[in-house]
Amino acid sequence: MRATRVSEGIYRLSANVSNILFEGMWPVPNGVAMNSYIVKGEKCAIIDGVCAWDGVPETLLAQLDELEIDVRDLDYVIINHMEPDHSGWLDAFRNVREDFIIYTSERARPLLEAFYGITGNIKLVKSGDTLDLGAGRVLAFEEIPNVHWPETMATYDTKSGTLFPCDAFGSFGAVDNDAPYDDTLQEEQIEFFEREMERYYANIVTSFSSATQKAIEKVKGLDVKVIAPGHGIVWRRDPGRVIRSYTRLTGYSQGPARAEIAVLWGSMYGMTEMAVQPVIDAIESQKVKTRVHRIPESHIGYVLDSVLQSSGVVLAMPTYEYKMFPPMAAVLDEIGKKKIVNRRAFRLGSYGWSGGAQKELDEIVTRNKMKWEFLEPVEFKGRPTEEDVARIRQRGIELARAVKSWALAD
Ligand code: FEO
Repeated sequence: MRATRVSEGIYRLSANVSNILFEGMWPVPNGVAMNSYIVKGEKCAIIDGVCAWDGVPETLLAQLDELEIDVRDLDYVIINHMEPDHSGWLDAFRNVREDFIIYTSERARPLLEAFYGITGNIKLVKSGDTLDLGAGRVLAFEEIPNVHWPETMATYDTKSGTLFPCDAFGSFGAVDNDAPYDDTLQEEQIEFFEREMERYYANIVTSFSSATQKAIEKVKGLDVKVIAPGHGIVWRRDPGRVIRSYTRLTGYSQGPARAEIAVLWGSMYGMTEMAVQPVIDAIESQKVKTRVHRIPESHIGYVLDSVLQSSGVVLAMPTYEYKMFPPMAAVLDEIGKKKIVNRRAFRLGSYGWSGGAQKELDEIVTRNKMKWEFLEPVEFKGRPTEEDVARIRQRGIELARAVKSWALAD
């Protein structure tokens, strides 16, 4: 692991982290990179920090040594975002130097005090404000609230056209820190980060899709030549590619998305399960791809990714104690909270004595303003009959056709 040069006077420092649940809940089986950047004029600034997870921030300090930068020479700390994966090293930094000046947004001020007890040496900035580092290097600030907390802002180096947007345009996935740039990676490696970006977006950003759309519009007003995010690779050859990816993902959250259908199912004694493969077969007979998750076995992080990518959703679950199978209710509620709206959907499932799943489904969809359009559900008492299965197949075909005619082209 080493520091690398982004361009003249700009360096990327990074730590890969694995074997954690990101934000305490999201699996990152391929790890995640947390990036900081050094920008040098006559004065020196560090943009974002990294969390004090294993081996960090010592890793960061070692990389400063590699660059022959004395940490005591860092005059300015730019905090684009207060979430501790970007600000968590402030404590360690303060042990080395106490009189650095923090540039951040007004909304970050109470969090600086709450997280780190920092109340002084803070310069509050808003959109359009700048910091002159000397030697022709001027940093400009742009507020991009709610990407992904209210205080977030982006920093733009006017000299090189480099944008430092923190969480925006980021991805999961550990990065080869010897070659962390799109122009040093093979196409399949870039595609790996694009896939990791989709799950990152679904897990971390999708609730803030409308704020992200506004941020993208602001970015389009800048002459951006390089995008250097807080997670993932640096887009140096084709920053437009990551902007297009993020634009597409913000659209997916509002629907339609891909011509695919997420099939989420849970079963207590195998009765509902009997109807799952028939509906999958029916969908796939229409050449529509499915993404299948058994609930609760499949982690919500992967379920959210599949639902974000898919224009259609099948929900298959039994009634449980007059309500919906509880793990499915929890998953559906989380999808609603993540604001993945406007889907074509179909529900099926077994009920014992009374039914009741539909009532809870209606309540969750209405409360979260999900705007999902459902085909007529198919419920069956106990195990599905041949007639039930035939109706379920028919609904699967109807849903697949609806999705195909509505979804976005890849
Ligand atoms: Fe990467 Fe919102 O923190």
